[in-house]
Amino acid sequence: MPGKNKLQRFAEMKHFNNTVEPRLDEIKGSEGEEKFKPHPMKGRWKKDFFQNQNPLVLELGCGKGEYSVGLGRKYPDKNFLGLDIKGARMFVGAKEAMDEDLTNVGFLRTRIDFIDLFFEPNEVDEIWITFPDPQLRKNRIRKRLTGKLFTDRYKKFLKPGGIIHLKTDNTTLYEYTLEQIEEHGFGLLFETANLYEEGIVGMDKDVREILGIKTHYETLFSAKGFKIKYIKFTL
Ligand SMILES: C[S@@+](CC[C@H](N)C(=O)[O-])C[C@H]1O[C@@H](n2cnc3c(N)ncnc32)[C@H](O)[C@@H]1O
Repeated sequence: MPGKNKLQRFAEMKHFNNTVEPRLDEIKGSEGEEKFKPHPMKGRWKKDFFQNQNPLVLELGCGKGEYSVGLGRKYPDKNFLGLDIKGARMFVGAKEAMDEDLTNVGFLRTRIDFIDLFFEPNEVDEIWITFPDPQLRKNRIRKRLTGKLFTDRYKKFLKPGGIIHLKTDNTTLYEYTLEQIEEHGFGLLFETANLYEEGIVGMDKDVREILGIKTHYETLFSAKGFKIKYIKFTL
């Protein structure tokens, strides 16, 4: 059972206007229909949620949403939406965005497995995947957020040429993602196994600032001595 702190956060988050927590009946098909149906917000994020026509950037497995909030501060002319299943983590970023009046930052609480129910073709401009679970057990490999099962889903709504960024501390996931890029003929734009000591050296200030945003998990793993890896690619 969630602790009191979590329950308080869940209750408080219900009143956040920057967070969407879909009800099951919104995506579950009725009898005789497909098992799942598109969420009402599909195709409407810019117009109805952000109320502008600016580009939409997703952060998958956002946890506390450091990238959504950090990029949202830096780029007021883009919309950022963090997705995660864990509400208590998302609460932290959602509250921060509200307190700072970042109207271009929002959160969607869902399993990423259902992601194509939420976005229509060409609705999303860019994706950040920040320190996803590396899913190391053999029977969990298909759950990796950079695996074919997921990239096929992203293809349904990511604009042609839309960039995917992966930041990870995990060597297995980093190498697996590079293999996936090669195997499926994706476009590798940049990669480094040592972001801070090699990758960003010589890059311009903006890129260093963006890639230098530290998430909760990044801080934990960096403290243990893991080198941060980064891959930038298109589908
Ligand atoms: C290791 S944490 C990283 C969180 C954050 N990005 C960070 O760097 O601190 C991975 C996050 O991905 C979320 N996650 C993993 N698989 C997911 C899925 N299939 N659907 C939704 N969220 C998922 C977890 O709930 C967790 O918050």
